[in-house]
Amino acid sequence: MAAVHKTSPKGGKNVLIVYAHPKPESFNGALLRKAVDVLSSQGHNVVLSDLYKMNFDPLVRLEEFSVSDSGSAAISRAVQEEVEKVEQADLVVFQFPLYWGSFPAILKGWMDRVMQVMSGFVRKTGFYEEGDLKGKRALLSFTTGAPSIPVESLEAILLPMQVVTLNAVGFDVLSPQVSLGVEHGTEEMLEQYLADWARRLSTVFEEPTSEMLTVDSWAEKHCHV
Ligand SMILES: Cc1cc2nc3c(=O)[nH]c(=O)nc-3n(C[C@H](O)[C@H](O)[C@H](O)COP(=O)(O)O)c2cc1C
Repeated sequence: MAAVHKTSPKGGKNVLIVYAHPKPESFNGALLRKAVDVLSSQGHNVVLSDLYKMNFDPLVRLEEFSVSDSGSAAISRAVQEEVEKVEQADLVVFQFPLYWGSFPAILKGWMDRVMQVMSGFVRKTGFYEEGDLKGKRALLSFTTGAPSIPVESLEAILLPMQVVTLNAVGFDVLSPQVSLGVEHGTEEMLEQYLADWARRLSTVFEEPTSEMLTVDSWAEKHCHV
């Protein structure tokens, strides 16, 4: 699963899964395994970045900070490898538990370091519609402890993760897969989440993407003042 292929031998797509949970027996681990099974059985190439297993360093350090300062490269090998995986991917799936309404720190750090290099901060492309990752799909799949989240709060939670990060670098974003209240979920409920996830992934390349929003268009849509 570590190998990256340019084209699938069966003509499938390239999917990168960025996974941020330390415990393989977690429900996030079960969602990851389901995704790998379903996508692979459909002939897609699946590449995994298991961030805790990789001990991914989430900090943008001084040497890398200079990347965005001057555009001159001091990109570490670990980041370069992730950049290459994203470059080859048609779809990037992010699987993680919601921590304080956002990414776990290790995934936030992956965004900071990898997306910095692929963004208009470093590349001479722009942001949003001009972003370099235009044409690639991204999908956030996250679990929560909360058994429900009002739609308005969910939209607000998605603003930094989906709009300000993924849309900003040009990704075409799919609607998120949210598995609510998994901590105290019944076995039936968790089985249902896994079945829903499998069904969705089986046609994920046929799904329409969400409207690309910017900070301004998000505010126009959501702030009625
Ligand atoms: C540091 C931390 C922060 C969390 N923040 C939230 C949160 O903001 N909203 C929420 O619904 N659950 C929150 N949770 C609960 C986790 O999202 C929940 O434990 C996880 O989704 C369960 O998935 P798992 O069974 O795969 O570990 C938090 C948990 C931790 C440890």
